[in-house]
Amino acid sequence: MHGTLKDYIQQLESPAPADWPYVVRSPGRINLIGEHTDYTGGLVMPASINYSIHFVARPLEQPEWRLHAVDIGETYTLPLPINGRTDRLWVDYLAGIGTQFQDQGHFLPGLEIVFGGDLPRGSGMSSSAALEGGLAFLLNELLSAGLSRPKLARLCQRSSNTFLGIPSGIMDQYASLNGRAEGPIVLNCHTLESEPVKNAHSGYQLVLVNSMVSHDLSDGAYGRRVAECDEALRVVREKYPEVSHLSAASEDQLNVVADNMTPTVEKRARYVIQENERVRRAITAMEAGNATEFGRLLNESHRGLSEDYAVSCLELDFLQQTAISVVGVAGARMMGGGFGGCTINLVKTEALSDFRTEITRAYRQEFGTEPEVYPVELTAGTSFI
Ligand code: GLA
Repeated sequence: MHGTLKDYIQQLESPAPADWPYVVRSPGRINLIGEHTDYTGGLVMPASINYSIHFVARPLEQPEWRLHAVDIGETYTLPLPINGRTDRLWVDYLAGIGTQFQDQGHFLPGLEIVFGGDLPRGSGMSSSAALEGGLAFLLNELLSAGLSRPKLARLCQRSSNTFLGIPSGIMDQYASLNGRAEGPIVLNCHTLESEPVKNAHSGYQLVLVNSMVSHDLSDGAYGRRVAECDEALRVVREKYPEVSHLSAASEDQLNVVADNMTPTVEKRARYVIQENERVRRAITAMEAGNATEFGRLLNESHRGLSEDYAVSCLELDFLQQTAISVVGVAGARMMGGGFGGCTINLVKTEALSDFRTEITRAYRQEFGTEPEVYPVELTAGTSFI
């Protein structure tokens, strides 16, 4: 059991830590490449990592969930059955998952849940997906619901979309639930099939750098990108009705219909189509151990996200530019929804210390803020421990 949670439980009046039978580890995720393509049915290459949320739970006789968010020091009692949203967002992430199971005809069991971990919130490592996935995984077992991990990811996404009104794709929840320690996965967001990617890079480390600018998917810009992609698909399908999702369109098809869309919508669509191609190349590069090519693709992805898709910001552009000027950095790009959060960097192991020093110094000098630097390891997806 996670140390802080154990201490917390010891302070609860009863019962002893040994009487909490369920412990779930739910990891955060990174995304190596394939950004803003999940909601277009595209390819993404995420992985689950060594930063996570732990849930410790025990059954309760009473029809309620007694929830303890240890990291923020808050407790909330949610009566069962769940009956809509509450006045706290963190509770709603969990209530939304419960509601999904209720909607499938399950009676939710009374539970006391203590949770917390080391996943920085708002950093773009998907603490919210870890929160949703961890509870969904636990309920799936307790209710013997028999949902596969991809189906659990879909359930979590539905909860975000419908209960919380956040129009996100499926990548984060899927990666947290289905990741592997050996390497990233490539997920086809149209079919929901995933395959392992063999990580043949040797002597390189993946490092996240947190801009400390916190991002928020519900602020409208993310939803606008989703709408722009829908619009691009609509126009492509007028001419090519066989194209079922935007990521399945080719650049040639886009060129033929480009005059029928606004320049902005065309740019968004071109980015998405090119990013899908980059994921394909990135798989080949990683499996061949070609870190130079992989890094080049990361840099290209960043350029597209910044200039064509317009989801970067000054701080992320600065971190990316600074990173690639450091000797031993194969490539870097912003990661996740954008407008803040982290960059992901592929750094030679022996250059790690110089990288940390240089990026911290430069960022502090430019913005007066200390960025956090996290070398990450890949781990398995959500599990009981
Ligand atoms: C956020 C969303 C994901 C995905 C990424 C961008 O993390 O939750 O579904 O769209 O942004 O790739």
